[in-house]
Amino acid sequence: MSISIPEITLNDGLTLPVIGLGTYSLNGNAGANAITSAIDAGYRLIDTAYNYENEGTVGEAVRRSSIPREELRITSKLPGRYQAYDKAVTTIQESLYRANLDYYDLYLIHWPNPKQDKYVEAWQALLDAKKSGLIRSIGVCNFLPEHIERLEKETGTKPSINQIELHPFFNQEQQRIWHEENNITIESWSPLARASAVLPNETLGKIADSHNKTISQVILRWHYQLGAISIPKSSSPERQLENISIFDFSLTETEMSMIAELTRPDGRINNQDPATYEEF
Ligand SMILES: NC(=O)c1ccc[n+]([C@@H]2O[C@H](COP(=O)([O-])OP(=O)(O)OC[C@H]3O[C@@H](n4cnc5c(N)ncnc54)[C@H](OP(=O)(O)O)[C@@H]3O)[C@@H](O)[C@H]2O)c1
Repeated sequence: MSISIPEITLNDGLTLPVIGLGTYSLNGNAGANAITSAIDAGYRLIDTAYNYENEGTVGEAVRRSSIPREELRITSKLPGRYQAYDKAVTTIQESLYRANLDYYDLYLIHWPNPKQDKYVEAWQALLDAKKSGLIRSIGVCNFLPEHIERLEKETGTKPSINQIELHPFFNQEQQRIWHEENNITIESWSPLARASAVLPNETLGKIADSHNKTISQVILRWHYQLGAISIPKSSSPERQLENISIFDFSLTETEMSMIAELTRPDGRINNQDPATYEEF
């Protein structure tokens, strides 16, 4: 069974499905099998990163799949230690080499690392890679509005996407409003808050029961109704299918508000505040 996932159009014209597959920890042959099963189920957007050390695994799944390359959307990310312009240029080429792909659909700066102060150089490298056809669309992860404003001021181009931590325990309301006003699509990382803390939640359980759906499905439907792309990771074919079987029901405004009330100021999974946290 294959499910058709609705698409949205980014500010630069690229279309992306509203749900993709996260691939953190999907490595090697088992990882390639898991990604292949997701593509068979209907996933077309795959999220990897240089730092996940599985760009090769993702490339292998793309080659195993019978879906034409142009129907897939493959994302990778530039690590913090390679943000200097020359290093970023080389890393994008290495990223493609590892995946054995000719281009990425989307390439993101993984963290702003503001203390290092090199993200504008990195952005310039992404802009140049886009011009030369190595990347179709460029974006960022974990950027605060002030970081994005600086990119636009210094290069004239803003990102198509900002991939940020977003789940019911940390719903990023202010960020969502700012991104909507600035026409930048939000992509939610750890959309299920890595599952273990949300699955026993009573409120989510009641909503799920009333729709005859699972808690994961309710959460992923919530992301969709917020207008965010989500990238749940699952290694299991059953859960992969479960996670995209969300287009046959909808949450009421009351239910959306009940989920909004679950957010907490300290709701981040690992307290990774992009204003201070750095990742290399
Ligand atoms: N840009 C960034 O800084 C950043 C940071 C973190 C993550 N990411 C990206 O976001 C992706 C998703 O985030 P994540 O992997 O941290 O967390 P997540 O997608 O919220 O949760 C993944 C966990 O939930 C389980 N799970 C998935 N579907 C389930 C279901 N229907 N029922 C029960 N359990 C389920 C998975 O186990 P099974 O595999 O066993 O199903 C896995 O343990 C990552 O893989 C990565 O691609 C980006």
